[in-house]
Amino acid sequence: MQTITTVAELRRTLAKARSADKRVGFAPTMGYLHDGHLALVAASRAQCDVTVVSIFVNPTQFGPNEDLSTYPRDFLRDEKLCRDAGVAILFAPDAQEVYPTQFETFVDPGELAKPLCGAFRPGHFRGVATVVCKLFNMVQPDVVFFGQKDFQQCAVVRRMTNDLNLPIEIVTVPTVREPDGLAMSSRNRYLSEEERRRALAISRGLFAAADEFRSGERNVEKLVAIASRHLKTVDRLQYLELVDGDTLKTADSPLRRPAVLCVAAYVGSTRLIDNVILALPTP
Ligand code: PAJ
Repeated sequence: MQTITTVAELRRTLAKARSADKRVGFAPTMGYLHDGHLALVAASRAQCDVTVVSIFVNPTQFGPNEDLSTYPRDFLRDEKLCRDAGVAILFAPDAQEVYPTQFETFVDPGELAKPLCGAFRPGHFRGVATVVCKLFNMVQPDVVFFGQKDFQQCAVVRRMTNDLNLPIEIVTVPTVREPDGLAMSSRNRYLSEEERRRALAISRGLFAAADEFRSGERNVEKLVAIASRHLKTVDRLQYLELVDGDTLKTADSPLRRPAVLCVAAYVGSTRLIDNVILALPTP
């Protein structure tokens, strides 16, 4: 595995792979890697010849009162995890490499960036879309892998890729969970033992609603109410919404199209998100 920190060296290295007609897979991350990130690597290795992982804690997607300065980092551990997982290139630029002093051009996503996390984290998806677009241009991958855990991020990135005619295939990888159901997240490390226990309410609520859905419940209010009962133990529920899988607008009741039940909640001072897809059985 090569660890690369500059765009120039990244381009030189990948030019060789490209001229040998290798299929390049890419998983962008902010590091502090866990099995969710490694599932993206595994998916890329299964579908591509060369796998690139980036680690960059992107300042433009954090709000002024968010956790940019305390975001967990352990580069040496991440590097080892990538090497052991069969990553070919680990791209870890510094902030100046990605955002040189005169940087002033952003990608401005539209309606998909407005509800859910977009409503509570102003500018977040503008920062995500901008850095993802830049990383796409730096790596020039054939396929990029994103996690379903960040469902809205997947939707925004897919739309951007389409709208800007980027010649890239986007693959969404299912959410990887702890054995008890908690969605893996770099931010789980902020949780105390007691908070970690209470955080389980999030996945429990989602699974309870998904179970009712599988048993035939199609009423949006009822499905939300089932999840809501479990979510009483979180400290602050930011949103619990059942949205249309394509538009991310509130789903019509009764459900007749794929929908996603999405949650953002604080446990202690840690903000966690999760979702389940409610897909209708194909006739
Ligand atoms: P980060 O939170 O590090 O996540 C990197 C990728 O890993 C994202 O595609 C995310 O959805 C995926 N991921 C995280 N937890 C997962 C889990 N439990 N199961 C499956 N996949 C999971 O998302 C970002 O970084 C940033 O916004 C980024 C896209 C890198 C842009 O800065």
